[in-house]
Amino acid sequence: MLFTAILTLPSFAQHYPKAPTMPADALTLQSPDRQLELKFAVVNGQPQYSLLRDGKPVVLPSRMGFTLEWRDDLAHAFVIKDKTYNTFDETWEPVWGEEAHIRNHYNEMLVTLEQPIGSVESMDHSTEKKATVMQIRFRLYDDGLGFRYEFPIENALVCFWIKEELTEFAMAGDHTAWWIPGDLDTQEYNYTESKLSQIRDLWDEGHKNGGWPWTAFSKTGVQTALQMKTADGLYLNIHEAATLDFPTMHLDLDDTTMVFRAWLCPDATGYKGRIQAPCVTPWRTVMVCEKATDVLASRLILNLNEPCALEDVSWIHPVKYMGVWWEMISGKSTWSYTNDFPSVKIGETDFVHAKPNGTHGANNTNVRRYIDFAAANGFDGLLIEGWNVGWEDWYGKQKVFVFDFLTPYPDFDLPALNKYAHEKGIRLIMHHESSASTGNYERWMEQAYTLMNQYGYDAVKGGYVGTIIPFGEGHYSQPINNHYHYAIVEAAKHHIMVNSHEAVRPTGLCRTWPNMIGNESAMGTEFRERIHPGHTAILPFTRLQGGPMDYTPGIFEPDMGKIVPWGKKMSHTICNQLGLYVTFYSPLQMAADFPEHYEPYMDAFQFIKDVAVDWDTSIYIMAEPGDYIVTARHPKIASLNKAADGVGTLADGKKGVIANATRFVYAIPDSVETFHETSLLQPRDVWYVGGITDENAREVTVKLDFLKPGVKYEATIYTDAKETCGLPDDSEFRDPNAQLKYNPQAYSITKKTVTSKSALKLRMAPCGGFAVSLREK
Ligand code: NOJ
Ligand code: CA
Repeated sequence: MLFTAILTLPSFAQHYPKAPTMPADALTLQSPDRQLELKFAVVNGQPQYSLLRDGKPVVLPSRMGFTLEWRDDLAHAFVIKDKTYNTFDETWEPVWGEEAHIRNHYNEMLVTLEQPIGSVESMDHSTEKKATVMQIRFRLYDDGLGFRYEFPIENALVCFWIKEELTEFAMAGDHTAWWIPGDLDTQEYNYTESKLSQIRDLWDEGHKNGGWPWTAFSKTGVQTALQMKTADGLYLNIHEAATLDFPTMHLDLDDTTMVFRAWLCPDATGYKGRIQAPCVTPWRTVMVCEKATDVLASRLILNLNEPCALEDVSWIHPVKYMGVWWEMISGKSTWSYTNDFPSVKIGETDFVHAKPNGTHGANNTNVRRYIDFAAANGFDGLLIEGWNVGWEDWYGKQKVFVFDFLTPYPDFDLPALNKYAHEKGIRLIMHHESSASTGNYERWMEQAYTLMNQYGYDAVKGGYVGTIIPFGEGHYSQPINNHYHYAIVEAAKHHIMVNSHEAVRPTGLCRTWPNMIGNESAMGTEFRERIHPGHTAILPFTRLQGGPMDYTPGIFEPDMGKIVPWGKKMSHTICNQLGLYVTFYSPLQMAADFPEHYEPYMDAFQFIKDVAVDWDTSIYIMAEPGDYIVTARHPKIASLNKAADGVGTLADGKKGVIANATRFVYAIPDSVETFHETSLLQPRDVWYVGGITDENAREVTVKLDFLKPGVKYEATIYTDAKETCGLPDDSEFRDPNAQLKYNPQAYSITKKTVTSKSALKLRMAPCGGFAVSLREK
C-alpha cells in the first residue's frame, strides 16, 4: 500500500518570460507602516508581483496565473482594466484564542485583469463572445502580504478546470528553511532545517522521517506553512489562508533559481480545482517579520479569513480533557474488543457473543476510572477511543463500510457512562475514526451527530487514517478538503465542536467556524520516541499559524519501555511537557498520560490543573524556530468569573471558583462562600509563563514586567532539576561529551513572592522546559 509517485512537471519558465526587475510603471501598494511595498505589473501579458521591505527585495518578480484545461492559460494576453484601493482597520474578538482582541489593519488593492475578446482561445468558443476576467486582490499588512484570485460572474470563464497554479514566490537568497516534504497524504513529519539549496539532497531522508513515506510529487516539494530565515535575519513564512472549495497548496522549489511555485494537490483525475464563478481562491500569504517572536504574534492568517459565520456561539467553549487514548497509542490496550474476527461486517458481525480479548481499553470499568480521575482534577472532558464496533480490521484494508459511528462494543455502556460522567461534571468526547472512508462517514454523519446530541456529547474527535476513499483521492485535494469542511458545518448545526486528526492542516478557518476547536495535521505526541528535540519549538511557527493543534501533551512517563517491552524513550522532561501548555496554544488541551502516571507527581500535575486554555493576552518573550520558545499568557479572567458556576471545594481541599467553561480554578479568600460573593470581588490576577527547549540546555531570564505594577504575586515555579535530562543516552542528537544521563522526571517546585520589577532566572535541561503560575496575593 506504500507507494511513492514522483511526477515530472512541465516547465512554464520558457513559456512566460519573467521580468528581472519590475517595470518602472508597476502599480504599488504599501503596508500601513510603509515598511512593506508590493509591486504589481502585467509583463508581456502576464501578471507578476514583487514584495520589498525597506526597499530591499523579499520576493523578487514572481509570476501569477493558472493553466487550464480546454482553453488558453490564464498567464498571457492580460491587460489591466481597473484598479481600486482600500484601507481597512478593525478590531475583532475571536470566540476563543490567544488574545481577546485582534487588529485587522491592511491596505488593499484590487486589480481587474482582462484577456480581451479574441485574444485567447477556448474549446467552447466562450472567449469569442466575452472577455476573460480575473481579479487579483492584494492585502498588505505590517507583517505580510495576502493575495488571492477572484473570478466574477461577468466572464468568459464560468466553469473551468485548473491544470496548474502558476503563482511563484521567488526568494531573494538561499534562505534557511524549516520544512517538511511535500506529500499528498500526510503532514506528520519531523522538520528538517536546511538551506533551500540543500532540500534536494536531504529530501529522501526527510521523507522517511514521518509516519510513512507516502505520496510525494517532487524531490524539492515542501509543505506550507514554510518558515524561513534570511541571511539578514528576516523571518519569512509562506502559507495560505481560507482554503475553501480548493485544493491545498504545497510548494515546489526550483533550486537553481530559488523560486517556489504553488503546487496544488490534484484530485483523482489529476485536476487541481474545478471552479465555478463567481468565486475566490484561498489567499496566498508571505509573512515578513523582523523578530521570531513577531511570527508567533502574527494574526495574518486569521485576519484573512471571514468573520464568524455562526450567530450563536454560546455552546462553543474551550476544553481541557483526558482520554482513554494513550493506552492504545502506547500498546498497553487495544481499540478492538476481540481477537477472533479477522473480518468484520458492520451490522452482520455478532459482537455480543464474541470472546473479549481482555485488552479492550474502552470498557466500562476503565472509563469510570478515568471519569473519576478527570472529575477529581477539574477537567471538562474525557475522550474515549475504541468505543464502537469495527476496530478489529479498521486499518490498511481499504474497507468502504468500516464503521457506523453508532454501535458500541458490548462492554461500553454509552447511556450509563454518559450519565455517570455528567453527574461528575465531565462530558464524554465522541470519537469518529473514519479510516479515511469519507463517503461512508458522510452517509452516517447525521445519525452519528444525532446520537451525540441525544446523550449530551458536545465535541467529537475525527480521524482520517489511511488511504482516502473514494480511491485515487489524496488527503488534501479539493473534494476531500470539501469533506472536512462539510463535517464542520454539519457539526455546527448540531452544536458540536470538532477536532479532526489527519485532516488538512488548517488555514485560519476557525475564525469563521469556531466550532473547529482543534486539528492534528502535524506530527503529534503519538509519534513518541520518533519526535525530534525542538519539534515543538517549530510547530508554533508553521502548523499553528493556521489554527490550534491537538498536540496531546502531558506525558509524565516518557520511558515507554515501562509500559510495554518494545517501548522506547521519548525526548522530553516533565517540565518540558508543562511548558507546552503555555507555549503551544490550543483551546482544546489534553493531559494525555494515564492517571497512574500522574499520581506520583501530583505536585507537578497541579500546573496542568491550574493552567487556562483561553487567553486575553499573550506575550511572546523569546523564541527561535527549532530551538526554544518562552511565552507568557493571561487568561480571560473576567469571562471566567462570569461563567463561574459556583464556589467549590476542589479535590485537593483548596477552595476556588470553578468556571463551567474551562473549569479553570483560582483561589479565593476563605471569607467568600458563594458565587454571588465572588462576583462582587475583583478577581485575582493570574498569569502563566512557559518555556521549552530543544536538545540544548538553556538558561533564560524572564522579566515579569507584564504584571500589574505595585502588586505582589505568588510565583509557583516548576523547573527541571540540576540532574534532569530529557535526551535518551543513545539519542542521535546527543553531544558526545555530555555528562548528564537520561533522567526526564526530575523537577523542582519553588514558590516566591514577585512583582512587575522581578525577573526569574530559569534553567531548562536538554529537551526540558519550565512553567510558572503567577497569582495575585
Ligand atoms: C490517529 C490519530 O492521530 C490518533 O490520535 C488516533 O488515536 C488514531 N488515529 C485512531 O483513530
Ligand atoms: Ca495522526
